[in-house]
Amino acid sequence: MAIKPVLKMGEPVLLQVAKPVERFDTLELHSLIKDMQDTMASLHGAGLAAPQIGVSMQVVIFGFEKNQRYPNADEVPFTVLLNPRLTPLSEEQEEGWEGCLSVPGMRGMVPRYAQLRYQGVDQYGTAIDRTVSGFHARVVQHECDHLQGILYPMRIKNFRQFGFTDVLFPGQPVTDD
Ligand code: NI
Repeated sequence: MAIKPVLKMGEPVLLQVAKPVERFDTLELHSLIKDMQDTMASLHGAGLAAPQIGVSMQVVIFGFEKNQRYPNADEVPFTVLLNPRLTPLSEEQEEGWEGCLSVPGMRGMVPRYAQLRYQGVDQYGTAIDRTVSGFHARVVQHECDHLQGILYPMRIKNFRQFGFTDVLFPGQPVTDD
């Protein structure tokens, strides 16, 4: 068990394009994913990408049970996704609030494709191929953006809907993210 520090916006590694994983089911990979899980759980995040703990590889994890931070969001099964490829299924985009453990204490309104297919593999090299919509689609796009060096503020269209969580959502529990 190792909770790693989450790098914050401004760190150069967060702006890099991450390298594909070439060897699966290795001790290093399992150890990386365990660290990511421990780190995400400790911060109650909905997802985490390897570059956020300083590892520039194409590894993301995400998963979400209903909770207070996103009361209207659907559950998303816990997923380990490597070398992802995303294909939007229509041009339709939806706006929704996002936060990021690398941009602590803030929220912004971000447009994302409403429906998409994502493909990749898990840590054993087993294929993943899903068609998703809603919050699941949003989380995947957010996490996979990290692998391209993109943080959600770069996607915001209307900066009047970007601010501090405790100001935007007064009375809600204040968390690190
Ligand atoms: Ni993030």
